[in-house]
Amino acid sequence: MTAVGIDAVEIWTGNLKLDLPGTFAPQKGEDPEKYTKGLGLNASSFPDSYEDIVTMAANAAHRLMERKGLEPDDIGRIDVATESAFDNSKPVSTYVAGCLEQVYDGDFHHANKGERKFACIAGTQSLDDAYNWIRAGRNRGRAALVIATDTALYARGDAGEATQGAGAVAMLIDEDPNLVELSTEQGYGSADETDFLKPNQQFPSVDGKRSVQVYLARMREALEDFESVAGDVHPDDVVFAPFHTPFPGMVRKAAMLAYRHVTRDTAVEDELAEEIGRQPRAEAFDDDEAFREAVREYMDGLKRTERYQEWYAETIDPTLTISREVGNWYTGSVHVARASALKYALEEGRDLVGETILVGSYGSGAQAEIHAETIREGWEEEIGALNVDEQLEDRYEMSWEDYEEIHDVHNHEMDVDVQEFTTPESEFVFDGWGRMGERKYRYVE
Ligand code: HMG
Repeated sequence: MTAVGIDAVEIWTGNLKLDLPGTFAPQKGEDPEKYTKGLGLNASSFPDSYEDIVTMAANAAHRLMERKGLEPDDIGRIDVATESAFDNSKPVSTYVAGCLEQVYDGDFHHANKGERKFACIAGTQSLDDAYNWIRAGRNRGRAALVIATDTALYARGDAGEATQGAGAVAMLIDEDPNLVELSTEQGYGSADETDFLKPNQQFPSVDGKRSVQVYLARMREALEDFESVAGDVHPDDVVFAPFHTPFPGMVRKAAMLAYRHVTRDTAVEDELAEEIGRQPRAEAFDDDEAFREAVREYMDGLKRTERYQEWYAETIDPTLTISREVGNWYTGSVHVARASALKYALEEGRDLVGETILVGSYGSGAQAEIHAETIREGWEEEIGALNVDEQLEDRYEMSWEDYEEIHDVHNHEMDVDVQEFTTPESEFVFDGWGRMGERKYRYVE
């Protein structure tokens, strides 16, 4: 069976930066370490006044097409995953195609376009759709362009304001891919939940603490479902485990839960037992609260063991490096985590061809998906082409007053016009409104 997976990836960050411990925390009267140590975030990225989900998506896709030497005819499908859409009918992918057609001779008239919505998991669902389309033999030799783009903004004063972010990840899905092959096996954990939603409103209604618990519950279900088709996962068989990263502190919790799950009844549990005892089993307890207390104690011990700390440092921590500097990109976050880990491996000179990564995607509302990916021969070249460090470095750092202004600019209920903070160069920009309320874009050389 021909391998199908991600051939190439490009990342586009919003052009502005908010320093969380330095600028945000003092305004909230909070300890900067709540951000750096608790949530695990140094900064958030934001869109400048001329940027939005379309410009970031089109800019990521344009970079990807240029680098891969692609023309519109090479693309048979454009799917955009977003939960920041501004139109209930016309999909963002049509705007993105319109942007790209300004800079290419050909067009995307024969490409199937769509928009995927299921909170943050929609990016992975779009990957799955593209994979299925190719596997079904309906692609006529063409590749799919999948773009995850979001401006993850919360209402001012909401607890989620600390975890904001904005950016896009474009991925080329193709046969015989350079970067990773996707597994046919997938595991799901899905339930009707009201932890985070946007009922026809721009900013989310969030039950933050509950959303953390729902994330963990659905992720555990997805892992069990994945193991039921793919067999037991052993922590040492996985080089990296990129999770959906609303903030790195969330992944710290998810990683520990996953480690406890996959080491149960293994030699690792026996080895750890000498230090922290065996894992508590529900059947050994009369009441649920006593069981949960025992689990909390076990987890407390586990996180202090050298074995767990080493595994975390090698398998999880490298997935969080970019996220720490950009915040939550919703649909793009798990794909940023994968890129972050592979970038770290490249810098370390690791040989990863044929190795497995385990990807944990999540979207509120709620659904988790676990699948595996096998790293391919061309991964070094693909990851080496990313210019994410330069992009992060080039962002304009906002003062508190700048941040207040830019939040208002992107608030759909406000009509605010501010001077841009950065000068666009070789990128698509928002160019005002058309006669039917549509957004207009142009390319700036
Ligand atoms: P909060 O109340 O501002 O923060 O809300 P906190 O008091 O819970 O503190 C956060 C952490 O910092 C805690 O760590 C504190 O102990 C620690 P924990 O105990 O949980 O490990 N802390 C400190 N550490 C060191 N030094 C200090 C210090 N102070 C505190 N001085 C909350 C946090 C996540 C609730 C909030 O940010 C929020 O509502 N965020 C939005 C919702 C969210 O991100 N949920 C995550 C799961 S749902 C998800 O991922 C889906 C999502 O991406 C949407 C989608 O799918 O579309 C959001």
